[in-house]
Amino acid sequence: MSKQNKPIGVMDSGVGGISVLKHIHALLPHEDLMYVADSLYAPYGNKTAAEITNRCMIVADYLIAQDVKALVVACNTATAAAIDELRATFDIPIIGMEPAVKPAAAASKSGIIGVLATVGTLKSAQFAALLENYGRDVKVVTQGCVGLVECIERGELDTAETKALIRQYATPLLVEGADTIVLGCTHYPFVKHVIQNVVGDQITLIDTGAAVAKQLKRQLEEKGLLSTSQQKMPSNQKSKVHFWTNSEAENAEQVTAKLWGN
Ligand code: DGL
Repeated sequence: MSKQNKPIGVMDSGVGGISVLKHIHALLPHEDLMYVADSLYAPYGNKTAAEITNRCMIVADYLIAQDVKALVVACNTATAAAIDELRATFDIPIIGMEPAVKPAAAASKSGIIGVLATVGTLKSAQFAALLENYGRDVKVVTQGCVGLVECIERGELDTAETKALIRQYATPLLVEGADTIVLGCTHYPFVKHVIQNVVGDQITLIDTGAAVAKQLKRQLEEKGLLSTSQQKMPSNQKSKVHFWTNSEAENAEQVTAKLWGN
């Protein structure tokens, strides 16, 4: 197979990265995608950087063995912990992600932004550097959302428990005067409607899924790795999207289908 027509690997601690996968599939509909949810080891957010890096190396090894041409780390927590080691180890384009502090700071009128993320992301050196670079002119209020990823992993997007956690975590940001809130974990776009409901329509919610897809496209273009199947594919034939999980939950397939949307 030509290197252009190899699949793109996308990984996350669990199902959260599917929110990024959707943007990638929409922007690059002719690319074959391989998604890995490391759900047996989710959440990453309360693990040490060394533990997260170990898991990321195992998942990346698996995807490299599937001959992917590029790897998207669709997880803020994993990027913060492991991106340097992944890039030092594997010789393919590796795209990571970080909470959207920069666009949020630019969008805020109150000069106060909130960041919802995992504890792992918030305490990382990468996040400290992000605040140093882009958070200087605004007040940044952060909130670790312990337990929220687990609800989303179970497919519980609208339950009383999920809503109560979101209310508990979003309220302090509002009290501090944030008018823009960063969804700094790829799981959270799946409960964006609940968050918006809790914080109200006047608050802007920002995530980075679309930006990551654009960055991936740029890198593939630069390296001459965009799929050439567009010309060859009959119009009724779509690219392949494979999902792989090590989840032991009985409803893993239903949760994946629900979040992917078909
Ligand atoms: N989806 C992940 C992120 O973007 C991490 C969730 C977790 O495993 O704690 O940070």
